[in-house]
Amino acid sequence: MSAPNYQDVDAFDEYLTALQPKQIVKQALESFDNIAVSFSGAEDVVLIDLALKFNKNVKVFSLDTGRLHPETYEFMETVRKHYGIQIEVVSPDPAELEPFVKEKGLFSFYEDGHNECCAVRKINPLRRQLKTLDAWITGQRKDQSPGTRNSIPVFQEDSGFKGANEKLYKFNPLANWSSEDVWNYIKMFDVPYNKLHENGFVSIGCQPCTRPVLPNQHEREGRWWWENEGGKECGLHATNIITKQ
Ligand code: ADX
Ligand code: SF4
Repeated sequence: MSAPNYQDVDAFDEYLTALQPKQIVKQALESFDNIAVSFSGAEDVVLIDLALKFNKNVKVFSLDTGRLHPETYEFMETVRKHYGIQIEVVSPDPAELEPFVKEKGLFSFYEDGHNECCAVRKINPLRRQLKTLDAWITGQRKDQSPGTRNSIPVFQEDSGFKGANEKLYKFNPLANWSSEDVWNYIKMFDVPYNKLHENGFVSIGCQPCTRPVLPNQHEREGRWWWENEGGKECGLHATNIITKQ
C-alpha cells in the first residue's frame, strides 16, 4: 500500500502507526522538505540517528532555556560532534526575559507554577522557531506521561502553533515505543546520552524543575514535582492538552 497524502491526516497517521520508527522518520522526511527534529533528550538522539540515515543535512533545533544542567549542555555538544551536525540553539527573547526576571526573580515557578517561566523560556522561542517550518519531529512517547500523553498519535496537525505556511504538522515517531525500546536502541547503536541518566534522572528538563526518581517511580514524577499530575506539560505539546479537554 502506498502512503496516503499527509493532508489526509487520519489516513496518514493510521498508515504510519503500522510502521517502525525508522520508516516513520523516512516518510516524514519524504513528505516535508522544511522539517526539523526538536532535540533535548535521549529519544531525540534516536530520531537524529535515524534521520541521518536518510538525510545528512536534517535540521535539528534545541530550545536553550538558560536553565539547563551543565551535563545537558555537554550532551548537546557531544551529539553535535558525534554526528558532525549543526544544532540550531534557540534562546529566549531578551526583551521578554529581562523584564520577567526583573519582576519575578529566578525561581517564581516554585511559588506560582511553571507556566509563566516556561512561556518566556520555551514556548515563545518554540513558537518563533516553528513559524519557520512546515513540520517538526518530536520524541514524545505515550508512556512518558499517563496524565497527558497516552493518546498521542504518530502524526497530527499541530493546532497549538503556526508553521511557515500557516498549517503545521507534527510527527511523534516513537509514540508507541517504551522507554526500554529507546534504551535498547541507544545501547545497540552506541548513541550518545545525557550523563545525568547515570544518576537516577529519567525525564530531564531544566535544572531547577527536574529531579532524579526512585526505582519504580514514574519518570514524570521527576518533573515539576511540586505541581499536580495534570499540569505537567509546559506547553511545547499544547495539542496534548487541547485534545484532552
Ligand atoms: S516537556 O514538554 O516536558 O518539556 P519532554 O521533556 O517530555 O517535553 O520532551 C518531549 C519532546 O519535546 C522531546 O522529545 C523533544 O522533541 C521536545 N522538547 C522538549 N524540550 C525541548 C527543548 N528544550 N528543545 C527542543 N525540543 C524539546
Ligand atoms: Fe522555567 Fe522550569 Fe519551565 Fe525551565 S522548566 S522554563 S526553569 S519553569
